Amino acid sequence: MSLLDDLKKLQEQAEAELAAAQGAEAVEQWRIRYLGAKGEVKAAMQRLKDVPKQDKPAAGQAANRAKNALQAAYDERLGQVQAAAPARQGPRVDVTLPGLQPDVGHEHVMTQTINEIVDICARMGFEIAYGPEVEDERHNFDGLNIPPHHPARDPLDNFYIDTRCMLRSQTSTVQIRTMEARKPPVRIICPGRVYRPDTVDATHCFMFHQVEGLCVDEGVSMADLRTCIDQFCKAYFGPDVETRFRPSFFPFTEPSAEVDLLFHFDDGSSKWIELGGCGMVDPNVLEFVGYDSEKVTGYAFGLGIERMTMRKHGVTDIRLLYESDVRFLRQF
Ligand code: DAH
Repeated sequence: MSLLDDLKKLQEQAEAELAAAQGAEAVEQWRIRYLGAKGEVKAAMQRLKDVPKQDKPAAGQAANRAKNALQAAYDERLGQVQAAAPARQGPRVDVTLPGLQPDVGHEHVMTQTINEIVDICARMGFEIAYGPEVEDERHNFDGLNIPPHHPARDPLDNFYIDTRCMLRSQTSTVQIRTMEARKPPVRIICPGRVYRPDTVDATHCFMFHQVEGLCVDEGVSMADLRTCIDQFCKAYFGPDVETRFRPSFFPFTEPSAEVDLLFHFDDGSSKWIELGGCGMVDPNVLEFVGYDSEKVTGYAFGLGIERMTMRKHGVTDIRLLYESDVRFLRQF
């Protein structure tokens, strides 16, 4: 058999074997067998010296072609098996499986209510104001026309930190802070937490939220207050809701009223539910902050945000709002 025939056969056989070689290990065995230092290609090359002189160039070229072809085939096959091999040990990842759904949270229902209130009041022309939750008596009582021995100051009804410092018991403190800081006209609301040592039950908690409103300008009247409260309640609860004012007393307003809302229940019954207090800012409060009570008048209100949330969403126990049970919270 001539060397040329042998080379042809060798190349065919080697290529067939290489195509069948599975995995990096088999491909390496193939390389050693054919392209290795003691491999078949080398052996064929060594037979060149026995080829008659006139046939040598042709045989040499054929041998080189076969060697280069096998080397190229090897490089390609090696690339294929490496690409097919898993990148690392361990179970393969099935990228077609559905992914894990991340647990996305959302705003707490109380935060949603506060945002709604802020939106409505902003449309009605109120600015948003905030005040500290740790307060002094000056803002929690003195400025609000609550005299030194008034029962509202009772240590059993307040969270005092020391004799002069306390957790605020009402957001009315922000009325004083705002008016101290600026001249009229003032038109603000302040949503925020307040604290009272009430025994916790279905309608009470030691911490709850109020939204305070204050409007002071020349010529502000009780009719403006009545309209403001009515419009606000209709915007939050819907146009069918009815509101009423019930005469009441607060040291910082004169006259004062309690705000009630009429709710209609599924069984056909209806009931007035108290939402908070309001009134015309007492002249003593205006004088306390340096306003001229002969020149400006104002109205104020303070509404319970938990009550609003519970009414709107049919929640019957305030504790559910603060128990962080996501099964409850998820529904809002
Ligand atoms: N601060 C009162 C309370 O916590 C609520 C209140 C009543 C606020 C009348 C007002 C108001 O601004 O005018 O019970």
